[in-house]
Amino acid sequence: MEENQEVLSWIEEYFSTDTHKTNLVCVLLALQEKFGYLSKEGLQAVADKMGLSPANVFGVATFYNQFRFIPPGKHPIKVCLGTACHIKQASKIMEHWERRLDIHEGEVTDDREYSLDRVACVGCCTLAPVALDGDVVIGDMSPSKIDGILLQHKIKNSKEKSGSDNSSTNESG
Ligand code: FES
Repeated sequence: MEENQEVLSWIEEYFSTDTHKTNLVCVLLALQEKFGYLSKEGLQAVADKMGLSPANVFGVATFYNQFRFIPPGKHPIKVCLGTACHIKQASKIMEHWERRLDIHEGEVTDDREYSLDRVACVGCCTLAPVALDGDVVIGDMSPSKIDGILLQHKIKNSKEKSGSDNSSTNESG
């Protein structure tokens, strides 16, 4: 199913359940949790369902910085900039990610492999500074750890690629 259609069906089903969905932020959070971002069509459909103007819904969504409006990368990287992490130089960690990925916070790499976002405290302050690689929490972040994570992904990607090349060679042979 095309993603747009999937978003619309999900919203349809979400609003069809008994519980009253009156809190716009909660609705938007649920939508983003499901699809990783808020699409224009999704925002429009939420506005229709809640009887609100699209401008109102868009205004609320852009007010909170946890919402994103473009699909995340294959590896969504999130850097915690909560207080404990901030004290432990989290901004330097963010800068190193930005340099290595050649994007800024809130952006996605051209190959759509990585997206980079900030998050508030993820509840692992004793491990500060903290970052998330997908769902994996990584503590004691340092520039060398970032380099290691990127290298691991690169190795994994090239293994996957050579695996799929081999299978396509086998299929054709
Ligand atoms: S402030 Fe970063 S995990 Fe709590």
